[in-house]
Amino acid sequence: GIALGAQASTGSSSSASSSGSLVFDPDAYEKLTTTVTDTDGDEHSVTYHFWKAITYVAKPVDATYQSLVVSAPVEIDGKAVDPSDAPILLANSVGGYMPSSVADATGVGAGGMSGGGAPGGGAPSGSASPSASAPGANGNTNATGGATASNQLLALAAGYVVVEPGARGRTLKNSAGEYYGTAPAAIVDLKAAVRYVRSNRGRIPGDVDRIVSAGTSAGGALSALLGASGDSPIYDRYLKELGAADASDAIFATGAWCPITDLEHADGAYEWNWGANATQSTGKVVDQSVSKELSAQFAEYQASLKLRGLNRFGALTARNYDEYLLRQYLQPSATAYLAGLSDSERETYLAKNTFITWSAGKATFTWDDYLTHVGARKKTAPAFDAFDLSAGENNEFGAGTTENRHFTAYGAKNDTTGLSTKRVAADIPEKLHLMNPMYHLVDKVNGRRSKHWWIRLGTNDTDTSHVVSANLAAAAAGLGDDVNHLYYWDQGHGANTDPGDFITWIAKVTG
Ligand code: DHB
Repeated sequence: GIALGAQASTGSSSSASSSGSLVFDPDAYEKLTTTVTDTDGDEHSVTYHFWKAITYVAKPVDATYQSLVVSAPVEIDGKAVDPSDAPILLANSVGGYMPSSVADATGVGAGGMSGGGAPGGGAPSGSASPSASAPGANGNTNATGGATASNQLLALAAGYVVVEPGARGRTLKNSAGEYYGTAPAAIVDLKAAVRYVRSNRGRIPGDVDRIVSAGTSAGGALSALLGASGDSPIYDRYLKELGAADASDAIFATGAWCPITDLEHADGAYEWNWGANATQSTGKVVDQSVSKELSAQFAEYQASLKLRGLNRFGALTARNYDEYLLRQYLQPSATAYLAGLSDSERETYLAKNTFITWSAGKATFTWDDYLTHVGARKKTAPAFDAFDLSAGENNEFGAGTTENRHFTAYGAKNDTTGLSTKRVAADIPEKLHLMNPMYHLVDKVNGRRSKHWWIRLGTNDTDTSHVVSANLAAAAAGLGDDVNHLYYWDQGHGANTDPGDFITWIAKVTG
């Protein structure tokens, strides 16, 4: 890996400790207090020990990103708590496959709201919190001055330990012009963070055998990958090169919100799902022949997966997946939403959305009407491996001094940037395996994977295909894992409308 070997010759300006020792110092904390507003709107005072940025590898490429912070509650609403054996929430803040740093974090929730980063670009997330009593670097404070309900804050208020790792991301470039944060840097970093935590059993607060990962979008993809790929040997050489701690990187449970994953199949899945919605939100109409070719590729891929739907649906194919999504996810999602409204609110909603039939407390509708309801798609065709190399994912698969590369045969064949070779580079197939949870759940089933899965997606989210999450859930469930997957009705990209339920679920699965 050229990218991996690249040293940050610009020099790191990190404030993180970089002694090379991977021994956690239990005494090196400061004591902070924050107010957490729970999902009922009730405020809780939480006193916690906070460990500022700790570099989690012995040979960091860039310690600004390869560092983590730890928060452990010691008093909740005036009552002492002991976090030594509490579950550990490992919340990443990756967005857009961009770099994410906690180097300057001064309190819990450094990455901002609900693990959401900067979708599709923007500045690295994780700047300093304004003060310990108002955490949330991205301004996630509510009117009363307490912090709003993010996974991290709710976890802390529930008595869990919160570990927030930074990770390298796709735009990082050293002074030699080499990209050192492209695939597989982010997953290697998160694994190194897990190994650091595991290797500090008995020193770091929390039960290191009950690590629950969480992330959103690209961070959700990485969380799912972390769950699927636990202890897989295909990452060993990368971890060794960083001087990662010698310990297991398997995690106990996985939380993934709108995971942008299975990237090499996402263009086909996208057209199968959103192809009927030819117009983007920008007003641009996507190329219909490209859309149709990609959709046909999805049919082949889906057949090759040999997955079965949840609840005895049977074999999942491109021909019945619309029916499956309706039955398993979309109609139950609308039903739950409508059931939660007052009678008059429900009447108003149904009057505005006449495509929904509401009968005997259940919502039903057709796939075509649902697509019309969602409306304009977000992305062009292809959505991920752009012919002109302009997608963020082209950058994610960059390497060495090459910023953007194709990662699908179809994208490479149709390249418009004047490349002399119309094929993917020789290292791409391995990089795809390193980045895809489906590889570990289908191609090479990993017995060390997480066995508990919390997956969430907004029904209006057109950042990727709905089948990406649904396939992940079906693959894990097909292996016998415990899968909790719901779609949030009328919610867009990055939504997390039931964080309290996630916290309760952690207690249940780790209990
Ligand atoms: C994210 C969003 C995208 O549309 C994408 O292609 C990759 C990542 C994100 O929000 O992290």
